[in-house]
This record gives sequence, C-alpha cells and structure tokens, in this order.
Amino acid sequence: MTATYEAPGGVAAKAEPVLRLEELTTSVSDRAETRHLIQAVTLEVKPGEKVGVVGESGSGKSITMLSIMGLLPPKVAITSGRAVFGGVELSGLQERDYRRIRGSRLAMVYQDPMSALNPVMRIGHQIAEGLRAHGAGGPEVEATVLRVLGEVGIPDPHRIAQCYPHQLSGGMRQRVMIAMALAMEPELIIFDEATTALDVTIQAQILTLVRRLHAARNTAIVWVTHDLALVSNLVDRIVVMYGGRIVEQGPVGQVLGSPRHRYTAALLGALPDHRSTDRRRLSQIPGGPPKLEEVQTGCPFRTRCDHAVAACHTMPPAGYDDGGRSYACWAPVEGAP
Ligand SMILES: Nc1ncnc2c1ncn2[C@@H]1O[C@H](COP(=O)(O)OP(=O)(O)O)[C@@H](O)[C@H]1O
Ligand code: SF4
Ligand SMILES: [Mg+2]
Repeated sequence: MTATYEAPGGVAAKAEPVLRLEELTTSVSDRAETRHLIQAVTLEVKPGEKVGVVGESGSGKSITMLSIMGLLPPKVAITSGRAVFGGVELSGLQERDYRRIRGSRLAMVYQDPMSALNPVMRIGHQIAEGLRAHGAGGPEVEATVLRVLGEVGIPDPHRIAQCYPHQLSGGMRQRVMIAMALAMEPELIIFDEATTALDVTIQAQILTLVRRLHAARNTAIVWVTHDLALVSNLVDRIVVMYGGRIVEQGPVGQVLGSPRHRYTAALLGALPDHRSTDRRRLSQIPGGPPKLEEVQTGCPFRTRCDHAVAACHTMPPAGYDDGGRSYACWAPVEGAP
C-alpha cells in the first residue's frame, strides 16, 4: 500500500516505505521444539523517517534488527512473514545478494564497536575496504574516507585514519562506526543500543551528531534502545516492543503523551521523576521479563499487568487502530492519563 507522509519541509508526499515488515516471525529451533523469539512484527519506515524501537532488555529488538540485516545467530531463522527493503524481499535472500545491500543501502551501528571493527586493520583501511567491496575505486576512496571521518566530528581525520581501533576511545570508535555506515550513503541506518556503553556526555554528542547528519542527508533512521527518555527527543515515531511483539506504535507525542497499551504506560511510569532530588528512587515495573515459553500465546505482558482479563491469557490481543497509532491490548488505558 502506498502511504502518504509528511516530507521534510512539510510537503505531503506519496512514498513507498524504505522498510516494511509484515507479520514477521523469527524463531529458534532445536530437535525438540521451535519457539518464537519475535512474533507477527509489522512496521514501516518511510524515506527519511526517524523511528525509535523501545522496550526492556529481552523484548526482541535486536532479533528484529538482525532478521532485517540477515545476520541471525545459528538455529535462529525467519519462519513466517515478510521483510521488504527498498522493494527487495529480504526473507530467503541468498547471502551473495544480501552482501550487495548490506553496508551499501542498509547499514547498522552496534552497541559494541570493538566487535564490529577489525582489531588489526587501520581505521582508514577498514572504511576504504568497505567502499571497495561495493564497487568504489581510485583516488576518490581515500577522499571519501577522510570526508566521512570529518563529517562525524573527528578532529584530525588524517591521523585517526592511521590508528587501530584499540588506540581510540569508546566515543571515537562509535563515531568511526557511524562514519563507516555513512560512507556508502545508505537509505536506512539501524542504531542498536549505539550509545548504551558510552557516558552521558558522549551519548549527548553522538545524538547531536545523528540529528545533524539526518538533517543534512535525510537518511531513514531506526534507533533501538531500552531508554525511552533518550529516544523521545530524537524520533518522529515510536514502536514499543515487549515479549517479542510490537505492543504499541505511533507518533512519538501520542504514544508518550497518552499511552494506550498497559506496558507502554508502565514503562513511562517507571521513568525517573526529574523533579525528585533522590535519583536512586528509580521505580521499575514490578516483576521480571517473561520467559520465552510464556510469550508463545496470549499477551506477553499478562504476568505483570494489573488489568489483565481472561482473554489476555489465551489470545493475543486484538490490534486496535486509533488513527495514526495502533496498540494491541484487551483493556487499554482510556483517554489522556
Ligand atoms: N541465539 C539465541 N538463541 C535463543 N534465544 C535467543 C538468542 N538470541 C536472543 N534470544 C532470545 O530472544 C529474545 C529477544 O532477545 P533480543 O532481541 O536480544 O532482545 P533485546 O534486543 O530487546 O534486548 C530473548 O528472550 C533472548 O533471550
Ligand atoms: S490488559 Fe491484557 S492485553 Fe492489555 S497489557 Fe494487560 S495483559 Fe496485556
Ligand atoms: Mg538488544
């Protein structure tokens, strides 16, 4: 379906989504059984849109992103549904064809840049290799390397290009990862907990950088985090995941201003009160995340929800659409909180 969206500059435009997930289900299998890690995940990202994917640890955010990237761990695979990127069906794509897309049109920045960087290769060489793997050549490769290092705010690109990853700070390594992601001018960059390991000052710098790069290039962004407060100032739309399902999604102001799903409301209720002087008094949602076997049927939040009704235990909640936003809850929060 072709969607209408508000293009940057306020012009309504028709645009095919850059990414579309339709009822995507990814499962882990061993000899005894198959269990779903994410179930019926449906979402769209429009060109140039910034989408936040939030939820506690273990809610299925990374498995969703790795399903898109074609980088799932052993024994884990897409078992039903579709993932379509720029008109290309990703589910079932051969690795050879994936390599043409990954890095060039679709890039990902991880929490731990050390695991994604080659420790024995100089930074400049690594970025150049990536460019050459996608067909770039000649003297412009080196110029592009220096340009993207400059674009991510690295003060002396010539010197940093000669460094090995271990010679840089965590914040600098994350800038290098973003430079690598930008080098091929992809249509979509996924940031998976990209600033989680960094201290708050560096985190703020990286967020400012991402905002600036987005304003300059209009690359679509998916920002994955367990930190609702962090993402609320960055994205246009928010997707809330829990127990491997999307429980609510919509424009950031609506979802955070008047959450409908009981899990979204509980997440917001668990945010620290900035008026409080005692920062140790951070509340948490009572109870722990659900076990994998508990989320195979029914609402994944039912074991922690004060409003659960009989249907919540047996049936997945119906998806309600409230204009621009959807949520899947049998007993949603009514009206504004
Ligand atoms: N390789 C794997 N094998 C089996 N289960 C996995 C594997 N990787 C992740 N999981 C499980 O999948 C669920 C979702 O994990 P994940 O997507 O990493 O969560 P998040 O990124 O939201 O913290 C969790 O229950 C996790 O334990
Ligand atoms: S009311 Fe039911 S469907 Fe809604 S969050 Fe609670 S358990 Fe889930
Ligand atoms: Mg994760």
